[in-house]
Amino acid sequence: MSQRPEIRENVELRALNTLHVPARARFYVEAHSADELVSSLDWAASEGLEVLILGGGSNLVLAGDFIGLVLRVAIRGRRWEHIEDHMATLVLGAGENWHEAVVYAARAGYRGIENLALIPGTAGAAPVQNIGAYGVELCDCLESVTALDRNTGELVVLENAECRFAYRDSLFKQTPGRYVIIEVRLALSRSRPLVLGYRDLQEYLGDTKDSDLDPLHVAEAVMAIRRRKLPDPDIIPNAGSFFKNPVVDTATFESLRERDPDIVAYPQEHGVKLAAAWLIDQCGWKGFRNARVGVHNRQALVLINHSGGTGADILELAETIRQSVGERFGVTLEMEPGIVGGTEKHNR
Ligand code: EPU
Repeated sequence: MSQRPEIRENVELRALNTLHVPARARFYVEAHSADELVSSLDWAASEGLEVLILGGGSNLVLAGDFIGLVLRVAIRGRRWEHIEDHMATLVLGAGENWHEAVVYAARAGYRGIENLALIPGTAGAAPVQNIGAYGVELCDCLESVTALDRNTGELVVLENAECRFAYRDSLFKQTPGRYVIIEVRLALSRSRPLVLGYRDLQEYLGDTKDSDLDPLHVAEAVMAIRRRKLPDPDIIPNAGSFFKNPVVDTATFESLRERDPDIVAYPQEHGVKLAAAWLIDQCGWKGFRNARVGVHNRQALVLINHSGGTGADILELAETIRQSVGERFGVTLEMEPGIVGGTEKHNR
């Protein structure tokens, strides 16, 4: 059993969340191994403290100070397992940087996650919201997750089907606080077809034949597209898409389309998914800014912290946008990032 890592008090979290909003942790610790994680959690339990598990801080809004223990999972490590024919399993410690892992896999010629390049955050956070972009979701190649089950104190291996993946959703989101992800296993392949159907990718790649492309080309194309449309959180603080793309039933969609024939929508197995960015854009929000926070001028789905904004400023803007989309289209937007800290009034 390794020693409990150093627990610090009253730590500023501004640099640890990609919206760069200020908030303090009453206690803060970084766990570099499963043992350090367990001993830190044991300490929090003995002190009767709530715990916030932090990865890259790219999918959360800190609404205020956190009065418990903020535990940053910093478990590193990458290795290959079961290399057979064209298949291999890439095992990532939860604290590995996601984008670096994508480039590493693509450079090795393995396919599966190249469309998920440049998504901020850690490997351990990726399954929580089932990250997705350009026609691929993490669940398409996730084999299993090793996690600490805080209900039993045991390490468990959860297979893909047990993770209850859905659009930006998973078991880990559905049972908040229960599991802490330690390791992620990805089933990659040298021969599976590249996923090139997303319109932006097709436009970027033009007439290049699929057979002339490898996963690194695709990762580079995705990086170029993202850099064009999405702000780099290191330069313009943001938390990626702030709302999920809402799914409505077919009858609702038809009446919306009657009024707005240009509405951007994607048919699903059940209902129709609407482009939240389009809805927000139509309400005139793209490029909006007040003194502190605003809406990105190239992607209406991204809220940004221009200058000294707080979590409360971001949430107030989000609420105003939600109301305006609700009034104009009768569609309710659901936030993508989680809200932590501060008063409970925001935590719906
Ligand atoms: N659009 C507008 N105005 C805008 C932006 C977009 O009208 O300001 C319209 C365009 O017509 C566009 C459509 O909305 O065709 C969809 O936009 P885009 O292709 O940029 O994708 P998105 O639905 O806004 C989703 C994910 C992104 C992911 C991209 C690419 C969600 C909530 N967002 O965005 O994920 O990178 O597709 O696959 O599903 C994230 O989750 O943080 C994220 C960035």
